[in-house]
Amino acid sequence: MLGIPDLLLNKQYDDRYFDVINALEEAKHIHIRGSRFADRLKNGFRIGETGFGAGRMLIAVIEALESANVPDIEIHYSSVELYPMSLDKMTRILNSFRDRAGHLIDKLIDVYSRFDLSARGWHHGIISGGFGVVNLHLFIGEALEMAASMAIPCDAWFLDGHDPAKNPDMWRAELLSEIGRKTARGGTVTTFSVAGHVRRNLTAAGFSVEKVPGHGRKREALRGDFSPEISCIPYKPEM
Ligand SMILES: C[S@@+](CC[C@H](N)C(=O)[O-])C[C@H]1O[C@@H](n2cnc3c(N)ncnc32)[C@H](O)[C@@H]1O
Repeated sequence: MLGIPDLLLNKQYDDRYFDVINALEEAKHIHIRGSRFADRLKNGFRIGETGFGAGRMLIAVIEALESANVPDIEIHYSSVELYPMSLDKMTRILNSFRDRAGHLIDKLIDVYSRFDLSARGWHHGIISGGFGVVNLHLFIGEALEMAASMAIPCDAWFLDGHDPAKNPDMWRAELLSEIGRKTARGGTVTTFSVAGHVRRNLTAAGFSVEKVPGHGRKREALRGDFSPEISCIPYKPEM
């Protein structure tokens, strides 16, 4: 694909993992501010992410924890990846942020290096420091399988599964409906995509969604509050 550095291209989807310029700021703008993370942060807070990729979003979350300055906090970060990247690739991608977040990148890489990426299912690692404790729960496999196997609902979902036109699976009604079922009361969803079917599928899943200003090249982004009593339309699989 033209214009995407080879390192950042996910060949499975002919799409980039993220824009390397300002990608941490983008994550903060769309997902961390969009979910009102700083205001809602509490012990045991749970984030769910679709598409772990290089783990850039998790680095942005830990940076936000550092700024929040609540050192005794413990949170959970559950993500999913169908095509886990090699440790070497992750290291080379994240090195773009080394000046800013080198200490966090080293911690993430250390945890990731202990996972057996050939084993499908849940993997758990702990990332800790002055910011508190982050439990990383990484599911190797398909996103619906991950969401369906979650025992505890999330407070915030970050949807980052490639351009819907290139990867419709990550935005399908069945998956977003399961994500609704795995969202706690008062929970949120945030994503860079404002595509009509994404908004409709999220609405059907119980979220009241709104377009908000995007970041960088993305003019608009989407955020939503889980309010099933207002917006839920039961999901009916197409016959
Ligand atoms: C845009 S990238 C995510 C970037 C990541 N959030 C980051 O900040 O580094 C989307 C990721 O979703 C993964 N993916 C795509 N379809 C999937 C599926 N159906 N189930 C699980 N993971 C999937 C891709 O392999 C890719 O790594």
